[in-house]
Amino acid sequence: RKNNILRFKTIESTNNFLKENYEKVENGTVVVADIQTKGRGRLGRTWVSKKGGLWFSILIKKDIKKPSFYTKLSSISIISILKRLKINAKIKWPNDIYVNSKKLSGILTEAVTVNNNIKCIIIGIGINVNNETPENGVSLSNLLKERLSLDFLLEQFIKEFNKNYYHYRNLPFLLNLKWKKNLTFRKRNFVNGYKILKIKPEYLIVKKGKITLKINSIHKLEKER
Ligand code: BTN
Repeated sequence: RKNNILRFKTIESTNNFLKENYEKVENGTVVVADIQTKGRGRLGRTWVSKKGGLWFSILIKKDIKKPSFYTKLSSISIISILKRLKINAKIKWPNDIYVNSKKLSGILTEAVTVNNNIKCIIIGIGINVNNETPENGVSLSNLLKERLSLDFLLEQFIKEFNKNYYHYRNLPFLLNLKWKKNLTFRKRNFVNGYKILKIKPEYLIVKKGKITLKINSIHKLEKER
């Protein structure tokens, strides 16, 4: 499958562009921008998107699956292309890509719904490549001590994503296993004294003493003392 690629120098957000234009562009379209002025992260956070990073989104209009399916597919695809660069990355639940406890990449998958019907899925991916990062982040150029071609990386990602898509499209259970294998923590492990009881892409069930919690962000747990 060939993916149509739309390139922008500056854009508000590649996810927003596809939200506004999903009817006009075809299935599989990729939107990539050098700079985003209103890049968005999960849970309403801002995603700083300076020049030098790889900021892009993919539109899915056919054979629509759960958003988490695409997030997992993207995570394992990023991990594979990083492996080729000799970088050992892990998924920090639910969908951040970490290298040595620093964030290298984030994924924001969104569904566009009209009258409760899902019209399309937008997978937004940010990878720190040659850009400066916030304190808790790391870029590929930091890790490899050289600059990388954004076009080359995007091409590699699309190839890997398509390959994984055809492999896993009817095997969500296997994809789930692969995703779990690459998490920084797995069932029965602990985060700051909390035992991980259940791992779902949407939430985590954790337990400490008599307290059981359902959470959608582990930052709070990590910061607790
Ligand atoms: C996160 O870690 O919270 C998710 C970050 C997702 C960032 C990407 S960059 C391309 C796309 N456009 C956006 O506005 N966000 C995503």
